[in-house]
Amino acid sequence: MSDWPLPRRRFLRALSGSLAGAALVSPLEARAAELVEVTGRLEGIRDRRAWREALRAEYLLSPEVLYVNHASIGTIPRRVHEARVELLRMCEENPWLHMWGGAWEGAREDARAAVAGFLGTTAEGVALTHNTTEGFNLLANGLPLAAGDEVVFTSLNHDGASVAWHHNARRRGFAVRRVSFPLRDAASLSREDVVQLHRDTLSPRTRVLVLPHVDNMVGIRHDVAAIATAARDAGVEFVVVDAAQSAGMIPVAVDGLGVDAYAGSPHKWLQSAKGIGFAYLSSRIQASLEPMWVTWGQARWAGTVRRFEDYGTRNLAETVNLADAVAFQQGLRGEFAERGYRQIRGWMRDRVDGSPRLSWHSPPRWEDGASLVAIGVRGRSAPEVGEWLWREHRVVLRAFGDPLNALRVSPHLITTQEELERLFRLMEEAAT
Ligand SMILES: Cc1ncc(COP(=O)(O)O)c(C=O)c1O
Repeated sequence: MSDWPLPRRRFLRALSGSLAGAALVSPLEARAAELVEVTGRLEGIRDRRAWREALRAEYLLSPEVLYVNHASIGTIPRRVHEARVELLRMCEENPWLHMWGGAWEGAREDARAAVAGFLGTTAEGVALTHNTTEGFNLLANGLPLAAGDEVVFTSLNHDGASVAWHHNARRRGFAVRRVSFPLRDAASLSREDVVQLHRDTLSPRTRVLVLPHVDNMVGIRHDVAAIATAARDAGVEFVVVDAAQSAGMIPVAVDGLGVDAYAGSPHKWLQSAKGIGFAYLSSRIQASLEPMWVTWGQARWAGTVRRFEDYGTRNLAETVNLADAVAFQQGLRGEFAERGYRQIRGWMRDRVDGSPRLSWHSPPRWEDGASLVAIGVRGRSAPEVGEWLWREHRVVLRAFGDPLNALRVSPHLITTQEELERLFRLMEEAAT
């Protein structure tokens, strides 16, 4: 992540504007200043519990639900949502000016630069898509693959990063090989085991290796850099990564990973508006990739990453608002946020270890895992327990049936200790 995030630059512009007179501060700049003020205030709180409570108050999440499903869909911070509403309103004042007249041209590029900085890369590589699924459709449609070529991934790969390959394989003649991942062994696999497992999936025909940075079932944090190196050594041309469960939750430095694509859904952990995404594309893969859509005016973006996101009219307010979501998350990268997930996860691990009614199915260490863990309830079908938790107790989580048979708990920093304690009591109550 950059030391000097773009929203702070905007903040300074806003500050100098306000010194010269309020009229000089644009609504976008005033908005950025407010976000920096909110996260700055949080940074000043020294007590961890008070910090988490103050943070929670910045969200719209209903107190009626116990929400531990941030891996499915995140919740947008109130100020980011307000900024979004303001942008939608501004757009309607003069839609042509904002959509096509260039009024938001700079703001759109600010959003791209903000995402790039957050991911540890540069703006030339970041396409502003709608979600992870779109990123993988872009790749599966546009890479130069033909009969004789093979795309490989394990069964841990989410459908959103898989189905586009299957679909295009039928249409275009290349092969897809999906290798079974030993899901039930996730808790005993070392980081090197997971690297080796990927090494073993490769064949001389493999041209593309697909993997999640963090998977959505047991939350394995893949050693992407080591897997990418192993794949290159084996002659694989493109290593493409699903960032849906990583960006915004764990620190990411894309330029150090040695991958060709890193596509994600910031509406999960980065807590953006729904339906805005990103796809980092290396200059190497950009040179080989055909755009998925052809649109009028696209020729303007030839040779730039924008040709991969150009599909006619889009909701530019939400694109611009992505900079606000990034500003908020960047502002949270203080001491408690860095340690927060580790502590929440450590607490959950200890709680399961101490309970004969629950079982742990995720990597033991935070360094190899995520704030996304699979917990079994002894003697019970996880989907049935999940349904009971929602119906009777308004707990929102995801349940996986066989072979995993576990509840997926994915808390955010805004999940309170009381909520976690209640959840664990309920899971124990459900056990036979
Ligand atoms: C790992 C992973 N990849 C891809 C997706 C699909 O995300 P989207 O629907 O935002 O494209 C999800 C959604 O949960 C996911 O968990």
